[in-house]
Amino acid sequence: MSGPGFPVVRPRRMRRTPALRRMLAEVRVRPEQLVLPMFVAEGIDAPRPIASMPGVVQHSRDSLRAAATEAAAAGIGGVMLFGLPDPEKKDATGSQAIDPAGILNVAITDVVGEVGEQLTVMSDLCLDEFTDHGHCGVLDPDGWVDNDRTLELYAEMSLAHAAAGVDLVGPSGMMDGQVAAVRRALDDHDHGGTGILAYSAKYASPAYGPFREAVNSSLQGDRRTYQQDPANRREGVREALLDVEEGADAVMVKPAMSYLDVVAAVRAAVSVPVATYHVSGEYAMVEAAAARGWVDRDAVMLEQLTACHRAGADVILTYWALDAAALLR
Ligand code: PBG
Repeated sequence: MSGPGFPVVRPRRMRRTPALRRMLAEVRVRPEQLVLPMFVAEGIDAPRPIASMPGVVQHSRDSLRAAATEAAAAGIGGVMLFGLPDPEKKDATGSQAIDPAGILNVAITDVVGEVGEQLTVMSDLCLDEFTDHGHCGVLDPDGWVDNDRTLELYAEMSLAHAAAGVDLVGPSGMMDGQVAAVRRALDDHDHGGTGILAYSAKYASPAYGPFREAVNSSLQGDRRTYQQDPANRREGVREALLDVEEGADAVMVKPAMSYLDVVAAVRAAVSVPVATYHVSGEYAMVEAAAARGWVDRDAVMLEQLTACHRAGADVILTYWALDAAALLR
């Protein structure tokens, strides 16, 4: 085993037994780090499957409460809520997002009432589910998303979420100054305890495809004038730094798998917690391949979540949260 021509350094020694490998694992995803995104739709009385996201549903208010209880029992860290208004009620400014009786606002109250003690309850703070044109903000006469008018609406939306009892709002529209606008509104209205998980480096990604089905999106076209170009890592770091300066309590990189270099770079640049969002298309691709028997679903799931954590994510938003938590217990 030794002598001229044989390697002296033998890393394989440390991989020899399961006990060695377990002892030496550098990172291990914990269930508490996982956040389950959930959809709740107005006006339905039973959960509705989402074809491109097998295993994920649009919830009714009742089924959402039950699913939140299940999530708490699974020991995950939290939930991220998305609201789908009655399509008839979508309008140019997304007014249902602000109405205290709007679906997301009542769902936050429901979930906080049900599991607020056990789970961190988070809300997607964006107008795209609520506007009839499907953009994340309001449009000016030329069809350009009007940054500063949108900020006023985000500020109001954050107050509705805070009043409903949310722990963390997640501004996800990629408007300039959105974190500062939301922080100021919350502080001015006695919601200093409500935190901000900023979707800081959010890329214009084709991997959001299934999500658009999940939220009955009305979008025509794309979001490239506000979401980032996939080519840009430095810009992602800059966005995260700006959000921290504006008062973000945690920052997010989204999607996950195609942007792990951005996760690592953001992790190195900030001192607040870093989250990443394993998005609908990333989920759907694995589910589709697994359904054909082409990959081992559970193994790929754990590999991908471990990779997110290894890259530097403290928190991972994933549609697999419950299944992964069961495997990781
Ligand atoms: C915007 C938002 C989107 C997602 C989360 N928040 C969609 C978009 O930017 O088009 C995508 C999540 C996913 O694909 O799983 N409200």
